[in-house]
Amino acid sequence: MKLIKTQIQDKIATITVDRQDALNALNSEVIAKLKESFRSCISNSNVGVIILTGAGEKAFIAGADIKSMQKMDSSEALKFGILGQKLTCIIEDSPKPVIAAVNGFALGGGCEVSLACHIRIASENARFAQPEVQLGLIPGWGGTQRLPRLVGKGKAIEIIAGGDMISANEALKIGLVNHVVPLKELLDTSHQLAKSILKNGPEAIRISLECIHKGMDLSLEGGLNLEVQSFSKLFGTCETAEGLEAFVQKRKPNYR
Ligand code: CAA
Repeated sequence: MKLIKTQIQDKIATITVDRQDALNALNSEVIAKLKESFRSCISNSNVGVIILTGAGEKAFIAGADIKSMQKMDSSEALKFGILGQKLTCIIEDSPKPVIAAVNGFALGGGCEVSLACHIRIASENARFAQPEVQLGLIPGWGGTQRLPRLVGKGKAIEIIAGGDMISANEALKIGLVNHVVPLKELLDTSHQLAKSILKNGPEAIRISLECIHKGMDLSLEGGLNLEVQSFSKLFGTCETAEGLEAFVQKRKPNYR
């Protein structure tokens, strides 16, 4: 079984987790393959935006593989936790925007992987949860850190301590997802968003992502400084020259 499928078309890479018999749950093998697919898309100059989704109509990723965790001792769990966290950091640090097309259950580690993506679009049937406490665990792939940064501390505590599933519309209300669409439209909507991003300067996008990501952990003053330094460094690059010139010449910029 292939476990991870990658398709590249018109500069959009679609990475699909395909382990439907376990609702796309992630064991070490799937994580390693997923990391490899992300690394390969990030270094591929023919890719500008990455979409991550799950195979089938039921699950995005139903979490870390519970059966494989059952046999782990503490040191193996540390390795497994670090492996999953590394995957989330590769996604979050991607210079190319990553869109999670959440097509069903995004539970535990699946929710955490979606949190590392830059944008989340959910289908109406999607369900989100951090159910780890129901298993006598805590989130191990960034949930205690990224969820409060995204939805606020109070909501994150409710989701993590309660462990219950929330609907796509509830996720939309609290800012956990950007859009909710019918399942049949999920990949189309994700592609449309990817296309609208691809019109723009790739270096400007990369630097915007970096400023937003790094700035979240800085004081306002530190973040503003990072922003203005990055803003100024773009001047003198071909991309910025093209963008400004295209405006003045009343034409579309040609970045790619
Ligand atoms: N790990 C391993 N196998 C899983 C799985 C998981 N996370 N989630 C589902 N599966 C497997 C089931 O064991 C089942 O396999 P078998 O047919 O071999 O028994 C198959 O997928 C289909 O699942 P169900 O029969 O349970 O399907 P359902 O429709 O009745 O229920 C569900 C769907 C509510 C998502 C249920 O499968 C479920 O609760 N799954 C577990 C979700 C979960 O707790 N995820 C968090 C894991 S912990 C974690 O992720 C820690 C972390 O932070 C890193």
